[in-house]
Amino acid sequence: MTTENKRRAAIIGTGFYVPERVMTNHDMEKIVDTSDQWIVERTGIKERHIAADDVATSDIAYEAASRALKDAGITADELDLVVVATLTPDHPTPSTASLLQKRLGATHAAAFDLQAACSGFVYATTVAAQFIENGFYKKVLVIGAETLSKYINWEDRNTCVLFGDGAGAAVFAAAEDGSGILSFDLGSDGRGPELLGIPGGGTRYPDNEDTIARKVNRIHMDGKEVFRFAVKALPATLKRSLEKAGVSAEDLNWIVPHQANIRIIEAASKRLAQPLDRFVINIERYGNISAASIPIALAEANAAGKLKKGDLVALAGFGAGLTWASCVMRWAK
Ligand code: UT7
Repeated sequence: MTTENKRRAAIIGTGFYVPERVMTNHDMEKIVDTSDQWIVERTGIKERHIAADDVATSDIAYEAASRALKDAGITADELDLVVVATLTPDHPTPSTASLLQKRLGATHAAAFDLQAACSGFVYATTVAAQFIENGFYKKVLVIGAETLSKYINWEDRNTCVLFGDGAGAAVFAAAEDGSGILSFDLGSDGRGPELLGIPGGGTRYPDNEDTIARKVNRIHMDGKEVFRFAVKALPATLKRSLEKAGVSAEDLNWIVPHQANIRIIEAASKRLAQPLDRFVINIERYGNISAASIPIALAEANAAGKLKKGDLVALAGFGAGLTWASCVMRWAK
């Protein structure tokens, strides 16, 4: 098999959805001691979308998934697998993917959730790629979806200004024309929830009156330490994926990074010696949506007609775990 006709997993459709309600930095000023200036200068975020009280992750995921299926020109019953990357599932069990599989009418599809925090969509992409490359599955739907607002500590200015809600989705199918996933790099260092995470609500610190009062079941982050990790991890994982694909950073048309902080993206641009305009950036409108950040940015870039057939596109994320993940693909559409 030559490199050209090797079977690879290529994206044939994308979609995204964010809830209607927008919270600006000025809205944040009314909740905690912060300012639009501080948030913009330190993070690049201007506003974020927040789900209504009765909206759960599968509702947001459904909208993004439906749009991705439409973009791909396929129906849900053609899907072999639905994977949802999320750290904010509807329930501990069943999986959000199972709920979605039923709601979409993906009657022939297997379904499961994958949890790798903000790296989740790229992790899930590599899972989809294995099933397609080995020929077991033909069409896989991967969704990154989060309702982080339900886990925000609205009294903690260090974290509440950073996050938003939304979902992005991609449909993968086999390609044998040189397009698709060329390489990936996944990793984890397991430094735990003290650094970044939602420590409570699981089996280590089950919810009780005390943990709920102390907001152990809300997002906690040592921002400075995670920042230090992220500025190294993002370019490092990208370099490893580029090396595995046998291409250089200069060859990339687009880099779609996790949208946690504009300063982290700027640092990656410097470390990779690649101009910032090659990075897909939407953090100013959405904030950090964990596993949904990368697929939303990808779907937005696709909808805007930025991604051309044959373009070399890299996805790269990092987050709780700590985890990191990247992949390089030749755009198929
Ligand atoms: O997706 C998961 C990955 N997450 C990340 O990648 C996040 C990585 N970390 C970051 O992006 C940044 O560390 C933050 C945006 C979270 C914080 O920015 P920073 O420049 O590291 O600020 P800092 O934590 O060093 O805080 C500087 C000051 C502190 O005041 P003092 O102690 O110097 O008086 C904070 O209390 O800014 C204060 N501060 C705020 N001030 C106004 C922290 N949050 C706010 C706020 N508004 N929202």
